[in-house]
Amino acid sequence: MDNSKTALVTGTTSGLGFETAAQLANRNYSRIIITGRNEPRIADAASRLASRTGRAVFETLVLDLDDMASVDTAATELASRGGSIDTLILNAGIAPPPSVIMTPGGLEATVTSSLIGHHLLTMRILEADLLAEGVSIVIAGSEAARGDVPTFKPVDVHAVANDHFGGDLEKAIENQMRMEAPAKYKAGDTYATAKVYVAWWAAELARLLPEGISVNAVSPGSTPGTDAIRNAPFYMRAFMIPLFKLIPGMSHSVADGAGRYLEVADYERNVTGKFFASKPKKMTGPIEEMEMDHFSDREAQRALWNVTSRVAGGVAYPAV
Ligand SMILES: NC(=O)c1ccc[n+]([C@@H]2O[C@H](COP(=O)([O-])OP(=O)(O)OC[C@H]3O[C@@H](n4cnc5c(N)ncnc54)[C@H](OP(=O)(O)O)[C@@H]3O)[C@@H](O)[C@H]2O)c1
Repeated sequence: MDNSKTALVTGTTSGLGFETAAQLANRNYSRIIITGRNEPRIADAASRLASRTGRAVFETLVLDLDDMASVDTAATELASRGGSIDTLILNAGIAPPPSVIMTPGGLEATVTSSLIGHHLLTMRILEADLLAEGVSIVIAGSEAARGDVPTFKPVDVHAVANDHFGGDLEKAIENQMRMEAPAKYKAGDTYATAKVYVAWWAAELARLLPEGISVNAVSPGSTPGTDAIRNAPFYMRAFMIPLFKLIPGMSHSVADGAGRYLEVADYERNVTGKFFASKPKKMTGPIEEMEMDHFSDREAQRALWNVTSRVAGGVAYPAV
């Protein structure tokens, strides 16, 4: 039984994060830190979780991943509370909005919420030595990153680098994050690219972390029962999502989606740096490691890591 363990789950006010927190409580975790962008929403989630699970184990933390100062404040607050984290689920993120949203820091919001804020949070947690021995880190990926889902085509950063930046991959990646010309916002493609970056980040961080800690990207799969739809463009809300709900195998429950995070968090710690999702061309069902060539692009993984560290405020893996 996991009854003395602590978990931190980001993006817990609704959907997969909320469900993951509930499932962790049912596994008897004794402390579950849940996050939301503002105190009333996260307090409301904590009270709904307590009444659903019958357990008083939820602790709230305000965290806005679009705002690096908020991430720093949250990390300082965590450190001041003490204790260590056994399971870190970096779930928060937004569905692709119909038109581009830029953060006050000048970054595109899909990649900021999914990756950049999570990078800074993870680095601060490492710096403060808040991870327990044998911790498992899971970050939310998506089947969209595979490149085999209609209307979701990840940007070929090598082609952008060669065509516009004299082959400089870091400039091409940063250009996409800042959505500056020649980058063009296309909801599905921008989201797919952000989730490729998530998979690259997990691969690179896995190489830096000491043995015994795992970090993997995991797609929860097609889960239309969450609140993500509120951000989605009209064609997704009106056509794709209703269609997904009708076609057998094209969607599953929020419980199944959240269960994938916990399935991978339970894997042996030597399973690390990987991206798990539904089988190629599938959106639900059993998960497996994704082996498309672009996921094992070491040069791009390193470049992505460097850019992410830079745009998050110059924070890289803490010196050991
Ligand atoms: N649903 C799917 O089919 C599906 C498929 C593949 C991947 N995913 C991924 O699964 C994750 C969870 O999505 P969901 O479907 O559960 O959506 P959801 O119901 O909309 O939940 C998203 C959560 O993330 C939080 N969040 C969003 N932007 C944030 C930010 N800048 N800072 C802090 N928190 C933020 C939201 O908080 P607020 O209350 O403040 O908005 C909310 O708690 C996302 O990373 C998504 O990309 C979902």
